[in-house]
Amino acid sequence: MKPLVNKIVCIGAGYVGGPTMSVIADRCPDIDVTVLDLNEARIAAWNSEELPIYEPGLATVVSRARGRNLRFVGQIEGAAHVAAADAVFISVNTPTKTEGEGAGKASDLRYVESCARFIAAHATGHTIVIEKSTMPVRAADRIKSILASAGPGVTFDILSNPEFLAEGTAIRDLEAPDRVLIGGERPEPIAALAEIYRRWVPAERVLSTGLWSAELSKLVANAFLAQRVSSINSVSALCEVTGADVEEVASVIGTDSRIGPKFLRASVGFGGSCFQKDLLSLIYISESYGLTEVAAYWQQVVDLNQWQKHRFADQIAAPIATAEGSLRGRRIAILGFAFKKDTNDVRETPAIDVCRRLLARGATLAVHDFKVTPDSIASEIGTQGVEVATSPEAALAGADGVAVLTEWSAYAKLDWTRLAGMLKAGAVIYDGRNIVDAEAVRRAGLGLRSIGKGERHVR
Ligand code: UDX
Ligand code: UDX
Repeated sequence: MKPLVNKIVCIGAGYVGGPTMSVIADRCPDIDVTVLDLNEARIAAWNSEELPIYEPGLATVVSRARGRNLRFVGQIEGAAHVAAADAVFISVNTPTKTEGEGAGKASDLRYVESCARFIAAHATGHTIVIEKSTMPVRAADRIKSILASAGPGVTFDILSNPEFLAEGTAIRDLEAPDRVLIGGERPEPIAALAEIYRRWVPAERVLSTGLWSAELSKLVANAFLAQRVSSINSVSALCEVTGADVEEVASVIGTDSRIGPKFLRASVGFGGSCFQKDLLSLIYISESYGLTEVAAYWQQVVDLNQWQKHRFADQIAAPIATAEGSLRGRRIAILGFAFKKDTNDVRETPAIDVCRRLLARGATLAVHDFKVTPDSIASEIGTQGVEVATSPEAALAGADGVAVLTEWSAYAKLDWTRLAGMLKAGAVIYDGRNIVDAEAVRRAGLGLRSIGKGERHVR
């Protein structure tokens, strides 16, 4: 049977739009998928062998579908594809507003709104418009009112189909999702979109709800995940002062099936484009409905995260700072800049706060990451006092302290016996991810401070 949706367009070829559409095209060779983006350089990269984002498995999926039923096109030339599309996904960024009402908290919907205007201008016949970006609850109302300006005979259904993929595991998450969520107002468009996902996702994992529940569920899912990280990070501080071990505590509480073992890794703090932005959006929505206590509850998750990043930076500084607190003349190796392993994404990475705090006290930083480019590092923390190292060894040479900020697997395998002689005498390793081989560090005669593990390893 011919599918109800034959031609798909997605506006936004970012970390979400690009991988999501690649997997849909890969799994549905009979559906024509066009991904649009205003950023021509990004489109050129999607059409090259050097994809604009690093994601394990992505290149293979793209190579199977691109040129067959998957294409990447500049947004302006893409108008004709919108005219022909049965469904248009909006997958543009929804950052925190920096000015106007709600600045610093509310989501900035200007890119979503301009996409809605673009769709209204070019769509023909009936089109299903799908919110893929994370939106504040009731954003669909704003999209609807813009779409209402389309010409006579042009009609729309709006669905909310938030994406739950995590970076670094995007392809796995898209190919075998815990669930796909489709929120809508009428059963027909929900069924049309569900039919696509059911090609590879078991029917019981394709959930449908009302529009507002779908929009809110995405914000709440991220808020709960972020809350778990802040919860275990609060416990990490308690472990350090009491001599308990946060990994032991996490593994014990994780065996309770009501709590579960995932997302209990203490860290230097959570980062990424979503957690903070979505928490702030939830806080803003709560405040705007007068729910002050609800807003304050979720604000604490953000504040604890900020505190954890600063606490970690201050631990590194404490033993090597002068009596006045200066780090001038001190060199600190930063191992890892991405917000988590297996991605080149640096949006809201905890490394930004840690590095800025150390730089503000005059430290020199030698930053290494396996996938983040020197330009990305420079755009977040500048170049003053910052050297970008091409290997962990180069970062460690002559360092007074070492901070592990991203859990890249290769950092767990560093040969500390070989590396110890490169560090300044007395240099301590600060493990912000609990991945460093503590035994190897001990054998090498180095000091180690791990998140949530007290001081028992320090020399
Ligand atoms: C996504 C979601 O859209 C966001 O709501 C969610 O919270 C996080 O994930 P992401 O894919 O990570 O965002 O964003 P990004 O990598 O910045 O990609 C968005 C793309 O949209 C950019 O390439 C930008 O150039 C493009 N864009 C933006 C357009 O093509 N047209 C526009 O009008 C605006
Ligand atoms: C998150 C959600 O997981 C995903 O469902 C949603 O679609 C987008 O936001 P992402 O930000 O890509 O995905 O990565 P995630 O694995 O959730 O990690 C977020 C941050 O929390 C990272 O900085 C990570 O290192 C940190 N984290 C995660 C911890 O510090 N400890 C943990 O136990 C888990």
